[in-house]
Amino acid sequence: MIAQSEIIIPEYSLDRDCTTLSRHVLQQLNSFSADAQDLSAIMSRIALAGKLISRRLSRAGLMEDVLGFTGDSNIQGESVKKMDIYANEVFISVFKQSGLICRLASEEMEKPYYIPENCPIGRYTLLYDPIDGSSNVDINLNVGSIFAIRQQEGEDFDGKATDLLQDGSKQIAAGYILYGPATVLVYTIGQGVHSFFLDPSLGEFILAQENIKIPDHGSVYSVNEGNFWQWNDSLRDYIRYVHRHEGYTGRYSGALVGDIHRILMQGGVFLYPGTTDQPEGKLRLLYETAPIAFIMEQAGGKASTGTTRILDIVPEKIHQRTPAILGSKKDVQLVESFIQDKGE
Ligand code: AHG
Ligand code: MN
Ligand code: MN
Repeated sequence: MIAQSEIIIPEYSLDRDCTTLSRHVLQQLNSFSADAQDLSAIMSRIALAGKLISRRLSRAGLMEDVLGFTGDSNIQGESVKKMDIYANEVFISVFKQSGLICRLASEEMEKPYYIPENCPIGRYTLLYDPIDGSSNVDINLNVGSIFAIRQQEGEDFDGKATDLLQDGSKQIAAGYILYGPATVLVYTIGQGVHSFFLDPSLGEFILAQENIKIPDHGSVYSVNEGNFWQWNDSLRDYIRYVHRHEGYTGRYSGALVGDIHRILMQGGVFLYPGTTDQPEGKLRLLYETAPIAFIMEQAGGKASTGTTRILDIVPEKIHQRTPAILGSKKDVQLVESFIQDKGE
């Protein structure tokens, strides 16, 4: 028999291989309390959703009826893809009979979805964008999922979930899953930003990097320049500035999660400003920009509308949009300085 003192756990491989997402959450909270267990279990269900979506995406080109549009439009007036619907249902499904999440609010659903059997126990709400960057799905490019967890406040008897109309400081956890060459999950519970890679042979998200810090400045600017003539002068001046100065390079994938992941790891700035047609821009606050803002700030970056800190915005409706300038501190400040100079 081997005495416990004789067991030498290899410092790197085994312990790190065993640092799954659910264990990491408990480590972060430094507790095995019921609340800590709940949050750990919620993250583990989100991970399951990520695995299911990742599996379907990896086989999409080989299966019938996975790619393309459904023919319907969502509440935002955008054409819905079959993968949007599948992924939306995956998140609902993983939380059914979990006792964990009582309500889900998604880009693809006009009103929150209630799981009554969870409600007496699960007082949490999941806000999510099931597939971010869905225009990339049919061409096998990167897409993502974005999520945030908030605690339900009050009873919500009228089913309107008005308690969700609060600022981003109410987010208990937030993150995204990037379905790229590998599937990566990045999350924060307000104690730094951590990334996990899906190891397909284990079927587990394994810790890759803890306490990710975004560089204060990066060379990348990420924006859809096709909208150039729909921006106001200050934004156009900023883009002219990066065109005329050395050290900047453009990257834009059409999926916020992919572009943000690059910027988180290497620095730079992502912009989706307001346009003449859509003064609030395109991205939605509760399940796109607020979760990403939480990640960015926790990594030492910045998230702004150009004039306001994104995490301070109190929405008036669940699907509210907001202009977004996200990324390295100095790069976001530079964009803000152009906007403030013009007073726009
Ligand atoms: P979604 O697929 O969830 O609707 O999000 C798409 C978003 C975001 O991922 C991306 O950065 C942006 O829309 C791209 O929009 P444009 O095609 O207007 O640049
Ligand atoms: Mn999106
Ligand atoms: Mn989406």
